[in-house]
Amino acid sequence: MYWPSAIPIAVLGGAAAVAAECTADAFAEILKDHPEATVNLVEAVPENGSFGQPETNIPFPYNATNLKALCAVAINVKSSENSSYNFGLFLPDTTWNERFMTTGNGGFGGGINWPDMGMLSQYGFATVSTDTGHSSGIEDGSWGLNPESLIDWGHRAMHGSIILAKEIISSYYACPIKYSYYAGCSTGGRQGLKEIQLYPDSFDGISVGAPAWWTVNLAANTLQQGLYNLPVSDPKHIDVSVFPAIVAEIEKQCDPQDGLVDGIISDPYGCNFDFEALLCTPTSDPATCLTPAQLTTISKFYNPWIDTNQTYLFPGMALGTDPSFAMGPHLTPLGYGLFQYFIYNNSEWDYTKFTLNDVTFANTINPGDAAADNFDLSPFRERGGKILKYHGDADSLIPTGSSIYFYKQVLQTLVPKGVEVDDFYRFFLIPGMNHCSGSNLAPWYIGAASQSVQGTTHSIPGFENADHDIILAMMKWVEEGDAPERLIATKFTNDTATLGIQSQRPLCPYPKQAKYITGETNKAGSWECKSLY
Ligand SMILES: *[C@@H]1O[C@H](CO)[C@@H](O)[C@H](O)[C@H]1NC(C)=O
Ligand SMILES: *[C@@H]1O[C@H](CO)[C@@H](O)[C@H](O)[C@H]1NC(C)=O
Ligand SMILES: *[C@@H]1O[C@H](CO)[C@@H](O)[C@H](O)[C@H]1NC(C)=O
Ligand SMILES: *[C@@H]1O[C@H](CO)[C@@H](O)[C@H](O)[C@H]1NC(C)=O
Ligand SMILES: *[C@@H]1O[C@H](CO)[C@@H](O)[C@H](O)[C@H]1NC(C)=O
Ligand SMILES: *[C@@H]1O[C@H](CO)[C@@H](O)[C@H](O)[C@H]1NC(C)=O
Repeated sequence: MYWPSAIPIAVLGGAAAVAAECTADAFAEILKDHPEATVNLVEAVPENGSFGQPETNIPFPYNATNLKALCAVAINVKSSENSSYNFGLFLPDTTWNERFMTTGNGGFGGGINWPDMGMLSQYGFATVSTDTGHSSGIEDGSWGLNPESLIDWGHRAMHGSIILAKEIISSYYACPIKYSYYAGCSTGGRQGLKEIQLYPDSFDGISVGAPAWWTVNLAANTLQQGLYNLPVSDPKHIDVSVFPAIVAEIEKQCDPQDGLVDGIISDPYGCNFDFEALLCTPTSDPATCLTPAQLTTISKFYNPWIDTNQTYLFPGMALGTDPSFAMGPHLTPLGYGLFQYFIYNNSEWDYTKFTLNDVTFANTINPGDAAADNFDLSPFRERGGKILKYHGDADSLIPTGSSIYFYKQVLQTLVPKGVEVDDFYRFFLIPGMNHCSGSNLAPWYIGAASQSVQGTTHSIPGFENADHDIILAMMKWVEEGDAPERLIATKFTNDTATLGIQSQRPLCPYPKQAKYITGETNKAGSWECKSLY
């Protein structure tokens, strides 16, 4: 039903019969030339069944549900003397589409992403995910004290899992894989970009959201933003109770430019915001205005971080993004934890003494070689690879601007070589969306990795097509050469697919933006993608 019509019906599920049994012996036989790999678990899951490791999987403590009949497999791979990683596979019984799909992780988390594998297996993909070599929650980096675990997290577990998974899949079905894909957000976005930078042949297409690609500077920026607003006793400190008033003033100034005042800012970085409007005057309510010292704090949050020698360290947050996550009273370990566990190997390292020298030192280490900062993506392009990237315009964890910066760096690298970047890499900002998913008002759902609540929804019911679903858009681009000119984002009523659709709106390839033209504001057809610059 959601299949692009030009793909012959014969490749729909069932074309390839399963050649091996869903048993531990069968997978041990497939892996017999890989002494480093151990089959840990094999389970035949019936139609509408569920599967996961809810008791032990810290970042994903729930099952993938409502599955197609499939074979669930978990493999452990020794990666050094004192490290190993696990990966999981979902292998559909009769609905395999002869395609391979890898998904990713979040933050510092260690756990197989069974829920997104479940969501992606609904399309018919044989799916894989790795735990990245450790078991931990998304903000817990303490495993980084083992340098081998850092390498696993940086890229080794992902690549090793892909290589073995491809071998397992083609043996299990006795049929070659037609196309290989990737879908991931946040750390998952980084993992996808890192994989194609190191191994351009791994995938034919990747969909990556809000990539945490600039590993050290991102953590440094997260820490620095928290420190801007500390200590609480300092006159520069802004209490979280004032943040809504700040966001409201930004909306007042920056929302109308897209043609509709609706609480959704379409171009936060294009807004020439007058910060001084936030200053307290004799008549203003002290609970909703700022002193000059506080104004400096908030303007640092929304402006790029540039050091005294004019080195560009990180983009600022998109205007209107809620500061409570980054500048609340409790700093997230996603910032200082990287320095404690990946750089100084000291859980007592005092982050209040953080300086730029720490950033410089951390960059000389580049822990786990995790940074996905090779902007020359031409090897991936030359083998026909396609990139669909997206980032929420109100991302409170990873500044939206870091994706814009990456895109511009790729342009700067490839345009002088005569490469038409649009031919293989398209980038969509999602106005109003927070980190990877979610918005109170804006349409944000595109069927991407980590957007479905615990993997329970897939695609867009009633709109299961390449105009609305980023996975189908990626397949259409790769398999039919038909690049997306726009994507239509959906907001379900109460963000619940079964309650129906509240609104839809086009997302435009950067730097184009959606402008309201005429008609019902919650219909995609009332909007057009326009070039502003
Ligand atoms: C699985 O669920 C679907 C939808 O609810 C239903 O039509 C189908 O009969 C179920 N299959 C089995 C084997 O229970
Ligand atoms: C999750 O899946 C496992 C493996 O199939 C099963 O044993 C367990 O009962 C499921 N748990 C829940 C809460 O559904
Ligand atoms: C693991 O082995 C590496 C060398 O292979 C060593 O540097 C590291 O200290 C060891 N880590 C632990 C936790 O044993
Ligand atoms: C901490 O360990 C890493 C290896 O993970 C090493 O590169 C780094 O130099 C160590 N840091 C210090 C301050 O010794
Ligand atoms: C700025 O440059 C000076 C002179 O080269 C150098 O001593 C200093 O460490 C630099 N500062 C930073 C933050 O890199
Ligand atoms: C949506 O959520 C709100 C608040 O929880 C609730 O009042 C409302 O009834 C829900 N709407 C539907 C259609 O379920």
